[in-house]
Amino acid sequence: MKDHMQNEGDTEYFVLRNEEAGLDGVIALHSTALGPGAGGCRFWHYSSRNEMLVDAARLARGMTYKNALAELPLGGAKAVLRVPDEPFDRAQLFRAFGREVAKLRGRYFTAEDVGTCVADMESIALETVHVAGLPQVSGKPGGDPSPWTARGVLAAMDNLAREHLARPLSDCTVAIQGVGNVGGALAKLLHSRGAKLVLADTNSDRVAKLAAETGAVVADVNEICGVEADILAPCALGGVFDAITVAKVKAKVVCGAANNQLVTEKDGVRLAERGILYAPDCVVNAGGIINVAAEHLGWDNQEVVRRVDGTAERLARVLARAEQSGQAPNLAADSLARERVRLGGALVA
Ligand code: NAI
Repeated sequence: MKDHMQNEGDTEYFVLRNEEAGLDGVIALHSTALGPGAGGCRFWHYSSRNEMLVDAARLARGMTYKNALAELPLGGAKAVLRVPDEPFDRAQLFRAFGREVAKLRGRYFTAEDVGTCVADMESIALETVHVAGLPQVSGKPGGDPSPWTARGVLAAMDNLAREHLARPLSDCTVAIQGVGNVGGALAKLLHSRGAKLVLADTNSDRVAKLAAETGAVVADVNEICGVEADILAPCALGGVFDAITVAKVKAKVVCGAANNQLVTEKDGVRLAERGILYAPDCVVNAGGIINVAAEHLGWDNQEVVRRVDGTAERLARVLARAEQSGQAPNLAADSLARERVRLGGALVA
């Protein structure tokens, strides 16, 4: 099955079916122009095959952009699997998925995403070498990518505070929406830098525990986007900013890990029109995929640190392009990613 998307080449879809193992899903391979298609495996509730195809296509395209902007030698892909309605054997399901990944002979490699964990990657690894996010081995890259994602967001935020707010993070208040794996790690890093925190999470125990640890104020989940803060960091789910939420934002900078924060491209323009600097999620949340890439490509930890801390510089390049072109940062990031893919990875300013 092939689908032509916005003149960016053909997205290939590989439909995955193994009734015995409960496997029902799709791999979308959006681009291999810069290297093997890399993107996690999402295990989620879908009501139809079409819903899976649409989600996989959108996510795979996002991975092409994210990997290109992170200057990784990787293309973009994503696997989407439906959580079966009937009881199932999780290890068997992921082994069956691993056999499907193996059939692509390295054109796609997988890792964790929403709904999957390290144990699932270990099941997949019984069938194919084209998997990352496995337990860390003796100081080499691997394991949970979330701390790296948090580190990259912090690097970007640190730079934005100095350049755009003209003060260090220790003089800033940061509001974090969602304090799970990434948001929780980010809160601790910010606390160690002396930043003041406002936190919100639908998991009230989690947020209360973290607030006690960091001296943070807890906000209502419905209010967090509009609290008084210098920086707003969405670290929960996507779809945060639409015309209504954009109008409520009081922070001058938005910089967080959540994927697909803007409901539409226009919402990035709306933020810019209100004078709010939006750091595109696909630029600032690449720390995790950098760690995953390092594990798969055999880089060492020093290289991971260098590249993750380079998030600030890569973001600055995108913001400079936005300023020069008069585009909102999200649009500047997308056009830079497309150019990079078209030029086979050459670094374009
Ligand atoms: P997670 O599931 O560990 O944390 C998400 C947190 O958000 C949870 O504590 C949840 O209770 C909370 N939450 C859900 N809805 C909420 C709402 N409406 N208001 C406030 N809190 C809410 O997920 P994780 O891994 O921390 O990822 C967070 C975001 O970052 C996701 O959008 C993910 O796609 C994105 N991301 C994660 C990466 C990683 O390395 N884990 C890499 C790149 C992006």
